[in-house]
Amino acid sequence: MHRHLKLGYLALNVTNMEASKKFYESMVGLNLTEIGANGEHFFRCSDDHHNIVLYKKDQASLKRIGWELESESDMNQLYSALERSKVKVREVDAAERAFLHQGRTIRFEDPFSGAVHEYYTDQRRLGGTPFEPTVAKIQKLGHVVLKTPRYEDALAFYMDVLNFRSSDFVEGMITFMRAFPIPYHHSFGLAKSDKGAMHHLNFMVSEVDDIGKGMWRYKKNDVVVVRGPGRHPPSGAMFLYALDPDGHTVEYSFGMEEFPEVSPRKPRQLPPLPESIDFWGAPTDPRMGATGNIEKAEAAPAKKLQPA
Ligand SMILES: [Fe+2]
Repeated sequence: MHRHLKLGYLALNVTNMEASKKFYESMVGLNLTEIGANGEHFFRCSDDHHNIVLYKKDQASLKRIGWELESESDMNQLYSALERSKVKVREVDAAERAFLHQGRTIRFEDPFSGAVHEYYTDQRRLGGTPFEPTVAKIQKLGHVVLKTPRYEDALAFYMDVLNFRSSDFVEGMITFMRAFPIPYHHSFGLAKSDKGAMHHLNFMVSEVDDIGKGMWRYKKNDVVVVRGPGRHPPSGAMFLYALDPDGHTVEYSFGMEEFPEVSPRKPRQLPPLPESIDFWGAPTDPRMGATGNIEKAEAAPAKKLQPA
């Protein structure tokens, strides 16, 4: 089956570009790399051209989730697996690929949450001008967690078709998954809910100080902290969750278990209790994960291209 290289980027629709730019640049600590012709803002926390892309829209939502594959042959394997499972796949045209600085790019809708996943084979690297950490030593875009009412069906889709592996799960509530063979405990999470939505997005940071400094920076700048600091039992990661200007929940996490590709440990089942999510007993603001609308997928084009 296809092999993932990384969780590459997330595209978000935001209602107030200036406020969101300020938040992702000055509060989270991303570097702005480019502004598109229609005001799209590209940010990064690595040598990639982008790890977050913001689009201006009347309603805030998750626009898509971008995954980078290891090679063209991985793309062909994924394409075949999606076709076998009757998922409609759309090839992104040359103009949009140029806009995104990406190689071959496909998109499809996860039928269970409604989220659009994008897979691409390469993205322009900005090696000459490395990412410069500012307010936090961000390591990478870490993961995204989606919610779905069709939890069991969705889990089967992610594991059987998208080649994700379960690392741990809280019984009947949430499964933490590796997009194989990315080693981190989770690059993706799937939670049971009454509707399809995004719960949160995550950046992994390099030091515990990034968590503590982040908390006080948020508080001093009237950014709403919705949970933390705390520590997740499943992954061992310390966490801090805050809201972006549209209410999207954004997490910093420090430290995460890594899995070997061969002979990884088996997933553990945790009881559906608050202690399974946080060792430290941090209270949860009800706004956490509450605003995570998903943009409806664009209609498939009339002519569908075949894999190369
Ligand atoms: Fe998380």
